[in-house]
Amino acid sequence: MADNQNTILQVENLHTHFFTESGVIRALRGVDFSVERGKVLGIVGESGCGKSVTAQCIMNMLPGNGRAVEGKISYYPRESIGSQTEKVDITGLPPRGKAMRAIRGNEIAMIFQEPMTSLDPVYTVGSQLMEAITLHQNVTKQQGKEIAVDALAKVNLPEPARIFDAYPHQLSGGQRQRVMIAIALSCNPTLLIADEPTTALDVTTQAQILDLMRALQEETHMSIIFITHDLGVVAEMCDDVAVMYLGKVVEQTTVDAAFHSPQHPYTRALLRSIPRLTDENQTRLDVIKGRVPDPSVVPPGCAFHPRCPEVIPGLCDVHTPEVIKLGGGQEVRCLLYDDKLMAQSPTRTALAESR
Ligand SMILES: Nc1ncnc2c1ncn2[C@@H]1O[C@H](COP(=O)(O)OP(=O)(O)OP(=O)(O)O)[C@@H](O)[C@H]1O
Ligand SMILES: [Mg+2]
Repeated sequence: MADNQNTILQVENLHTHFFTESGVIRALRGVDFSVERGKVLGIVGESGCGKSVTAQCIMNMLPGNGRAVEGKISYYPRESIGSQTEKVDITGLPPRGKAMRAIRGNEIAMIFQEPMTSLDPVYTVGSQLMEAITLHQNVTKQQGKEIAVDALAKVNLPEPARIFDAYPHQLSGGQRQRVMIAIALSCNPTLLIADEPTTALDVTTQAQILDLMRALQEETHMSIIFITHDLGVVAEMCDDVAVMYLGKVVEQTTVDAAFHSPQHPYTRALLRSIPRLTDENQTRLDVIKGRVPDPSVVPPGCAFHPRCPEVIPGLCDVHTPEVIKLGGGQEVRCLLYDDKLMAQSPTRTALAESR
């Protein structure tokens, strides 16, 4: 989507590699997407497509063997609305430098899939929440405690004063995830990244957490990047969606368009693989054929071509698709929409012709 006044984050041509003993893993191979101010962007795609690595790059928290080798992540700080403040290139900032620390946890906050790994088991919930609050706000201990108990109440935790004194292992999974949300929101972020925040929870608790996040988003108008492999969650939570496949975004569009007129064959295949309540015949779900290839052996041309039901031999296995803008903000990386190449292709299918 275009770089406009409402953009809060823009990721352009991001390539991220991991340097391992068995070679270089090209986890991101040119990721492009943008997040609008006050909107929720869903990032979907099968396991291993690079969703979490993308989040790590935005937080500038890649593991030691990872490096963003090309591309840029532009963040527009909250002060930049209506003023001259420059955008910040996150990939250019030292990960532990002052500028990055001012953004991380202050403007951009993150919640993870498994809260037990991010909450410290030896400290009470209250002390961990207080640490986050006093880091960003100049308050006394007493004021900090009041803000912390309020924050726990805001995420609908019962008896927030008791939870304040509890240790993480004394809470349920859903309660721990609420605590994580309270910590992430304690700095009043402009952008929240939620990486599969509900997959470890049962469906009822998942629904409650999603409701809570949506309500908090409407109240605070923060932007959210919501990472999930569940298109049902995208429909419920998001305004826009970026569909990733093997280290690239293959389609970015509004959630409405993604569900009603998906353009990339991969988006269409993902949609066919989710159950529908309206399916009276209870027909079997389509599974996308084949498996996601290992990122160390990316197929040539379009990386999805070996699994694509609409593949055109001689075209899709040869040419690498560029981003094509289809209007209405819909962007797709697929050769079926490349009029020039399609016109030259001797083997285009009747299906493609009918477009
Ligand atoms: N520290 C690392 N060292 C080497 N390879 C890594 C590292 N972290 C991630 N990768 C690789 O990068 C690719 C993308 O991983 P990522 O964790 O972003 O996937 P994902 O889309 O979040 O998947 P999931 O849905 O399973 O969480 C994978 O092939 C993964 O093996
Ligand atoms: Mg992940």
